[in-house]
Amino acid sequence: MRVLRQLTVILVLLVPLLIQKSEGASHTMDNVLDFFPESEGDGLNIIWAHGVNSHEDLNQSLHDDTMMLETDIILRGIGTENQTDIPVNAHPPDTDSDLLTLDFINKTTLTSGKGMKLDFKYLEAVGPTMEIVLDLDSQINCPLWINADIVKGPNSPKDPISPVEFIDTANSYFNETVLSLGFTTDWGVLKEEDMYTWTMIFDILQYTYNLDPQPVTYPIRAIWCVRSWSKFTWLLGLRESFSITVWTASTDPVDIQGLMSLREHGDIKRIFYDLPTRMRDNFLQAIETGVPAPDEKQTSLWNRESWTSVSAGGKNLVFLSTESAGISGPSFRAGYIQSIEQHKPKRGALTVTVQGIVQFVDRVR
Ligand SMILES: *[C@@H]1O[C@H](CO)[C@@H](O)[C@H](O)[C@H]1NC(C)=O
Ligand SMILES: *[C@@H]1O[C@H](CO)[C@@H](O)[C@H](O)[C@H]1NC(C)=O
Ligand SMILES: *[C@@H]1O[C@H](CO)[C@@H](O)[C@H](O)[C@H]1NC(C)=O
Ligand SMILES: *[C@@H]1O[C@H](CO)[C@@H](O)[C@H](O)[C@H]1NC(C)=O
Repeated sequence: MRVLRQLTVILVLLVPLLIQKSEGASHTMDNVLDFFPESEGDGLNIIWAHGVNSHEDLNQSLHDDTMMLETDIILRGIGTENQTDIPVNAHPPDTDSDLLTLDFINKTTLTSGKGMKLDFKYLEAVGPTMEIVLDLDSQINCPLWINADIVKGPNSPKDPISPVEFIDTANSYFNETVLSLGFTTDWGVLKEEDMYTWTMIFDILQYTYNLDPQPVTYPIRAIWCVRSWSKFTWLLGLRESFSITVWTASTDPVDIQGLMSLREHGDIKRIFYDLPTRMRDNFLQAIETGVPAPDEKQTSLWNRESWTSVSAGGKNLVFLSTESAGISGPSFRAGYIQSIEQHKPKRGALTVTVQGIVQFVDRVR
């Protein structure tokens, strides 16, 4: 009996180690700009196919100049009495598709050198899909992005996927991926005033800051770029393996100015764009004709009136970027500190000394 129990314990410990092992896959964590040299180091030159959720779509994007295929993954029959554990490519509210995720991955990796972005709306679909990835790993030699919305974003209509479970489940099968971890958002008329807040940024960092060295890309909705871009350049400053993916719904009225600012101040090699052709063309044209870049980003950062001062608790996390530091409290507190390079502590240092104005933002809005 005792031996049996010990054996069970050993097995339980071994199984995750065994399933995590992968021999064959390559390039899955590549920066897409390196993987597709024809992009000339500019995310605007990466061509995306969005919602590749049928055999017809797949055939189309395997034949045209698409570089990255984005697809939505659900379980066949999800939410119905006939729910299965078979991953298929479909966007909710659809519950079925003629395209099995197995066939999508198999065909894309066997017949093309294109990359894949797998977008999950349900936690239940992650395990069965990652099993397929593991089974086919020896033929996966392209960028592989695993995407879900894990934190509430501007005007969020619904709850995000459970962040820890999503990341842990995906990574327990195969962690040599780019994790694309975003915010649930919604847009409607009169919602232009919304934006990404520091609270949202710190919320997502709680889950992603320790994913080192696994690359993380943060999808952000272009419509709020004009008001939030400086937060994203800060995020890019935290770590080389962080990137931004700008996306938009086709009906969003986007201010190109915000995209210009992000581009102006952020590292172009780590900003990707998943935009409809028309908007991408407008953007390219704006770059060509040189829309004047807006003023110093500080103007949008240091409005003292918009910050509420509260005292910092003992268990704050400090995130250091190249130009500033952020503090995130245990539950209700977050803050942002502008510091200069010399205030960065040496590795292992226990205290951070910051001089100048320190402001804390109350997370309860
Ligand atoms: C796949 O697409 C190509 C090019 O668009 C087309 O010629 C071909 O007929 C399609 N095949 C199928 C099976 O749809
Ligand atoms: C579930 O499957 C049964 C048997 O095939 C079928 O009669 C029924 O309509 C299905 N239900 C749904 C919601 O698709
Ligand atoms: C992948 O596709 C090839 C060619 O169609 C096929 O022979 C093979 O069985 C498929 N692999 C899987 C796991 O379905
Ligand atoms: C994947 O997990 C292994 C084992 O935990 C770890 O050593 C490795 O650094 C991880 N790889 C990435 C890219 O995070």
